[in-house]
Amino acid sequence: MAVVQASDATIREAAKLLNEGRLVAFPTETVYGLGADAGNARAVAAIFEAKGRPRFNPLIVHVANLAQAETLAHMTRSGRRLAAAFWPGPLTLVLARREGAPISDLVTAGLDTVALRVPDHPVARALLEAVGRPLAAPSANRSGHLSPTQARHVAADLGASVDMILDGGPTAHGLESTVLDATGETIAMLRPGALPADVIESVLEAKIVRAARAGSRPLSPGQLESHYAPRARLRLEARDARPGEALLAFGGDAPPATGPAFNLSPAGDLIEAAANLFAALRALDATGVETIAVMPIPEQGLGEAINDRLRRAAAPG
Ligand code: TXA
Ligand code: MG
Repeated sequence: MAVVQASDATIREAAKLLNEGRLVAFPTETVYGLGADAGNARAVAAIFEAKGRPRFNPLIVHVANLAQAETLAHMTRSGRRLAAAFWPGPLTLVLARREGAPISDLVTAGLDTVALRVPDHPVARALLEAVGRPLAAPSANRSGHLSPTQARHVAADLGASVDMILDGGPTAHGLESTVLDATGETIAMLRPGALPADVIESVLEAKIVRAARAGSRPLSPGQLESHYAPRARLRLEARDARPGEALLAFGGDAPPATGPAFNLSPAGDLIEAAANLFAALRALDATGVETIAVMPIPEQGLGEAINDRLRRAAAPG
């Protein structure tokens, strides 16, 4: 599928396609999403089809604002506080789904909760305005693959199954949103993401809990063990690259590279590293190496989400 530059005209065209039940990939501040009208069961089914996604893995619903979110879900006190602090932005709230909420049961995989977020990207926001209804949008990649941070990643991974790909340039955060279960007063982190836990805790003035891993049908299926995976194997906590390996480096002490190499952030900046992560993994994967050696990344702040993605990418598929 051709990639089109996002503009007023192409966003209007994209909105028309979505209202007709077609699929449109669009940029958000985290990663590119594969959007469909959340109220159209056939359109939502086409998302699962295009991604090869298991039907038990529910989708995030993107809304224009808090008011639209409240038409779909019951806000809790803590949910409201988080929404006020972080929407629009890279935070997804799982809330109790409202009776009769106009979204397909496929979106929520039959759960009585729904995951909602208000994205903070001018193209995503203009598109939501133009469509006038909630959009189901998982990351625009084949299930289990790396999330796309550039329009061309979407084209390479999903190609013909998408009706339009809106290009809004590389995404700012490069990691998916943080997913929180906000149905109760204790907030549980279902997926670490672009909004670090300590930032959330400082607004809540309370600790959040890390959701325990479930099995193959996890509470939040983003917790599936193998995910976000390149073709190459990953060797984590590497101090250097062995002969034949590519090197994914971080910080100023990177060893000299003998093969393909990418430094996520020579300055040791986690924000920069997150933004580069998926594109770097793709680029090193494309060199055809069997193994990518990955230097350690500190576990603080955004490092939690970066390490989460690296561990999943390293898990045997
Ligand atoms: O940054 C993002 O969140 C991107 C952009 C496009 O917005 N979207 C994204 O969607 O990453 P997806 O579908 O790839 O990941 C959604 C995550 C999955 O881990 C899913 O299991 C979880 O949210 N999820 C969705 N609905 C849920 C629910 N009702 N309860 C628990 N987890 C849910
Ligand atoms: Mg995804």
